[in-house]
Amino acid sequence: MSADNHDYSLSATPHARLPMAVRASGCRIWDRDGNEHIDACGGAMVMSLGHCHPRLIEAARRQLDQLTFTYRFSFANEPLVELAALVREIAPMDRAWSFFNSSGSESIESAIHLAILYWQHLGRPEKTGLVSRFPSFHGSTLGALGLSGSRWRAPFEPVIANHAVAQAPCSDIRARRTQAEELAFGLTQIEQAILTRGADRVAAVFIEPISGASGAAIVPPEGYLQGVRAICDRHDVLLICDETITGFGRTGEWWGADHWGLRPDILTFAKGVTSGVVPFSGIAVSDEIATVFQARDGFAWGHTFSGNPLGCAVAAETIRTIGEEGLIYRSRELGARLREGVEAIAADSEMIGQVRGRGLLVGMELVTDRDTLTPLPDGSAYLTRLAREQGLLIYSCPTPLNDIVVESVLLAPPLVVSEDDVDEILERLARAVTSATLRR
Ligand SMILES: Cc1ncc(COP(=O)(O)O)c(C=O)c1O
Repeated sequence: MSADNHDYSLSATPHARLPMAVRASGCRIWDRDGNEHIDACGGAMVMSLGHCHPRLIEAARRQLDQLTFTYRFSFANEPLVELAALVREIAPMDRAWSFFNSSGSESIESAIHLAILYWQHLGRPEKTGLVSRFPSFHGSTLGALGLSGSRWRAPFEPVIANHAVAQAPCSDIRARRTQAEELAFGLTQIEQAILTRGADRVAAVFIEPISGASGAAIVPPEGYLQGVRAICDRHDVLLICDETITGFGRTGEWWGADHWGLRPDILTFAKGVTSGVVPFSGIAVSDEIATVFQARDGFAWGHTFSGNPLGCAVAAETIRTIGEEGLIYRSRELGARLREGVEAIAADSEMIGQVRGRGLLVGMELVTDRDTLTPLPDGSAYLTRLAREQGLLIYSCPTPLNDIVVESVLLAPPLVVSEDDVDEILERLARAVTSATLRR
């Protein structure tokens, strides 16, 4: 604290006094006043292994004693080499190569760099255009924000690009389309976006396989991601999967792409890769793309902390822990329990218009009533606040979509939660939903 006992860090919520977190374990955080909070969203969907997982803390401690920084133009480091080998085993492409950064946004920037440079190396420098979807969130650096179909872009519109021009299928429940209609709609949106720019000028399409912070766990219709792959192949466009939220078992497979056997050209990840122990992220790159770089001058674009040994050591331990402790299976099993409970709550509430998601990523869309499906004004912030009163942290996702703001919330508890934890999350959520209904 400062001498005058004031917190001089810039706050996202200057008018609310946030509890001071002092300790955390699994899905629980304790504040200085002794209150226990159940973290059912891992802050922003970060906690794969929960808070302070002993294996990750131990891996960090071991690494702290050995080597904490290397500069990648001067040294390789052992955790980096080991992590790249582990990513190669789990990545949804053959013989993947990796590159590591410190945040999801940085890895999106690296994917943009790679895509543009790849086409330059192949003698097609005019292929620089990017296509992404709305709703979506790909990060807050200006390149990543340009890809994002999200409320966060608004103040920066004058200085960022708008690549988020294709609407994601199933993103507007008011359209009441069948799955087949959503499939046709979603694929047309992607192909039109490429053709409008001219396929010769498009480098890559960016997709969250299952939407995260903006879409609140929108699952695409069967055949959509394979269809996007076919469109990208037809037009010589790279397909980049942003698995910042969906990676590391969150949805009941290692990657969101795995649900549909999708093979992206580049995949980005962050958040759950170290369960918040160290700021860290990365990309996996297909062998075909990587060899184009390795055969030339390599990939020199990155950040000072790219390939940081501390982050690499913790990330490698995350992968080993998820594999050895069967946590992908747990994500599926506990996700089903969570989903069933949320659906039971929704059945008794007019304000939940849809429950969706996969594994331990469950979204609820909030509406005024189930007939019109009109978005509940400020519903995301409202329910999040009422959940907090119950000692439950959920993630608020209001998102502009054409001329409305879709209101939804996300649950994303750690893969290590117990059955009892899930039941307690559901009890607290039910109380929050009931009190929202009573207070309206
Ligand atoms: C899908 C997705 N991509 C990228 C990012 C950016 O990650 P970071 O906040 O670590 O830069 C986020 C953050 O929420 C995200 O949800």
